[in-house]
Amino acid sequence: MKALILSGGHGTRLRPLTYSQQKQLIPVANKPVLFYAIEDVIEAGIHDIGIIVGPNAEQVKKTVMSVDWDANIEFIYQGDPLGLAHAIKVAKDYLGDDDFVMYLGDNILREGIVRHLEHFKKGNFDASILLCEVPNPQQFGVAELSEDGKTIKRLVEKPKVPPSNLALVGIYFFKPVIHEAVKHLKPSWRGELEITDAIQWLIDHGYKVGWTKVTGWWKDTGKPEDILDANRLILDDIERDIRIKTRAKIIGRVVIEEGTEIDENTVIKGPAIIGKNCKIKNAYIGPYTSIGNNCIIENTEIEDSVILEGSEIRCGGRIVESLIGRNVKILEQNNHPIGRRLIIGDNSQLTL
Ligand code: TTP
Repeated sequence: MKALILSGGHGTRLRPLTYSQQKQLIPVANKPVLFYAIEDVIEAGIHDIGIIVGPNAEQVKKTVMSVDWDANIEFIYQGDPLGLAHAIKVAKDYLGDDDFVMYLGDNILREGIVRHLEHFKKGNFDASILLCEVPNPQQFGVAELSEDGKTIKRLVEKPKVPPSNLALVGIYFFKPVIHEAVKHLKPSWRGELEITDAIQWLIDHGYKVGWTKVTGWWKDTGKPEDILDANRLILDDIERDIRIKTRAKIIGRVVIEEGTEIDENTVIKGPAIIGKNCKIKNAYIGPYTSIGNNCIIENTEIEDSVILEGSEIRCGGRIVESLIGRNVKILEQNNHPIGRRLIIGDNSQLTL
């Protein structure tokens, strides 16, 4: 059994953050999204992992290899991101005759994949997919189940009249017959080789496609609000762990890493995580906030936000529900002429 984790793609919906980094490297609770997928795969006993990489290949490689994983990891270059099924095509030699799990590197699944893998193996399915009940199936790929409910009859992309409220999660188990399916695919209207078409090919040719239902939460972190949401969900599970000495007032489940200095005029209310070597002065860090390494926060309140490493925020006032990239400076205007002075990258969003 192997794993194929997808860490390519354009990430257009997460611009401007994805101009300078691959979206799967954006941290949620101070850990790159991609690491959650790698951990799930290893936890399921899979130690051969191929990671599909796109335009920012070297960055992904460097970040992944900075950790000593209990796995053999290979990187597979996709070139242009021409679809999820295209990723299988370029990984064909790597995957060989093995069964594999394909895991989209921007998905996070609270419960991991152990139970789902067991179902795939026990049911002797040719493919098995994960489905999650959603309130808005019109916005997802949706499954129609067979009469006995055990297998998949049909997959429909963003249906106007959904056959069920079961959305496709970005985790799939395949036998090698999937390579045959991929070989027969034609690009869709958006020019991509679609994984839903490949699975439908299996169904149409009499292969058995099983499914399991996700019981905990599942998050696809494709958009800024999804990153904030995933951050809340992960922080909901953290334990208090304060590795520094400080006279600040710290309430609840808060993680503070080594080298960070926090003055006595600061209040921190969990769940929240603060990385290494930050300097926090006269500030309030509220629930559901993650602050990366080497940040400076002064005279400011921050709540329900994700701040990436190296950022400096000294603007007074209160920042909420924000996703702030690396090395960003937000400073207070204290000389004339008074006014908002902005140097902002393309596709940024500000609500003033
Ligand atoms: P998407 O989120 O569907 O596509 P995207 O990354 O191009 O994002 P956007 O729509 O915002 O431009 O991709 C799902 C996952 O699969 C994501 O982790 C990226 C990865 N992927 C690849 O590795 N190769 C591909 O060819 C595609 C389409 C996606």
